[in-house]
Amino acid sequence: SESVIINEDGNLEIGGCDLVKLAQQYDTPLNILDEEHIRNKCRKYRRILEQYYPTTELAYAGKAFLSTTICKIVEEEGLFLDVVSEGELFTAVQAGFPGDKLLFHGNNKTSRELEYALDCNVGRIVVDSFLELELIEKLAQKKSTRVQIYFRVKPGIEAHTHKYILTGQEDSKFGFSLRQDDIMKAVNFAIKSSYIDLQGLHCHIGSQINESKPYRLAAKTMMELLISIQKIYNYSISELDLGGGMGIKYRSDDSKLDIDSLMNEISQLILDMAKDSKIELPKLIFEPGRSIIGEAGVMLYRVGVIKEIPGIRNYVSVDGGMSDNIRPALYGAEYSAVVANKANYPHNNSYTVVGKICESGDVLLQNIDLVDNLTPGDLLTVFSCGAYTYSMSSNYNRLPKPAVVLVNQGQADLIVRRESLEDVIQNDLIPERFRRN
Ligand code: LLP
Repeated sequence: SESVIINEDGNLEIGGCDLVKLAQQYDTPLNILDEEHIRNKCRKYRRILEQYYPTTELAYAGKAFLSTTICKIVEEEGLFLDVVSEGELFTAVQAGFPGDKLLFHGNNKTSRELEYALDCNVGRIVVDSFLELELIEKLAQKKSTRVQIYFRVKPGIEAHTHKYILTGQEDSKFGFSLRQDDIMKAVNFAIKSSYIDLQGLHCHIGSQINESKPYRLAAKTMMELLISIQKIYNYSISELDLGGGMGIKYRSDDSKLDIDSLMNEISQLILDMAKDSKIELPKLIFEPGRSIIGEAGVMLYRVGVIKEIPGIRNYVSVDGGMSDNIRPALYGAEYSAVVANKANYPHNNSYTVVGKICESGDVLLQNIDLVDNLTPGDLLTVFSCGAYTYSMSSNYNRLPKPAVVLVNQGQADLIVRRESLEDVIQNDLIPERFRRN
């Protein structure tokens, strides 16, 4: 994060807040988000897009991290919000987020979710299947309203990323296939329907992508589809949403996607194709999640037991683990870390940082260089934990979920309360028959 510094006390400071003090005040494990960093990312994205393309919109992908306060920031920055479930939709509604700026995604939306989306006047529903399409038509008919939709399409592209987060290939549960009997059949249905407004086409090729080529291929494929819909049905699709997935830096040697040149390339390609085929220029939309909030966040842990296994490794246990960050265990994701209260000391002694979950696979950082005088009670800061960390957290081993604090110019505000032990058992019920005697 750009606002991470080492202060006079030799402690790490983010958004003007000393991490050692934050740990004292809010306890650990703690997820800390830098508000300025998030806002700067939103603004930079918009500036870049507007520079290369005449009509654009940005949507923040809430799955990366969502809370009512984040909805407020996203709204203030003028972004749309992409939600994928009733829970995310409810969060947006509770925060007073405007319904017309919501995009509703999901490969298996329930009819209750769809009905709720219509009640909330969700701006765009990204339709993923025929079943959903028919359901939306029925619901819209019942409510005598017209629903604006996108179709999610799988453009048949393989980006280089972890297979669990690949989504654009033909063998995927998401979206319609490019085959005539699939997407074109859906398009035909939508155009004929009096209750459905086909506004746009959408694709999302995967996540943590660090090269521009798959995006170019996706943009080209989607434009070809848009052009053939114009030719075959004389129907003009007015919006093209190319999803999110832009990769970020987790470690200093990670390559990082250059958003500026990516947007330049894609914009040029679309402008050229629209001109050549004389179709109306579609509005261009992106849905970044990770690249807006990922690098804005850190996880702060307290060091506990340190076990030296001579000639093998040094295990450092922290007070969280795979329950608050599943990404290392699930994807083999790698992170960088610094000891917050010893930030000035050289980090050149190798450790394996593990969590407190009862599994050997609960490794947060494999062979990471930290200070050689590491001591129980030290504070470990893991970087790039703004996205897919808290949002993927669980209560495994009945660990309460951490608190989330928003920092900005020396001010810290709690935006998600730490779960209490009462919270952990709040849904447990004891049937009457266990209460006798
Ligand atoms: N739009 C759609 C339709 C998506 O499915 C996703 C992410 C995004 C936008 C935002 O992608 P982003 O810009 O954040 O990469 N849990 C995984 C990532 C899963 C991403 C799922 N979809 C991880 O921790 O790496």
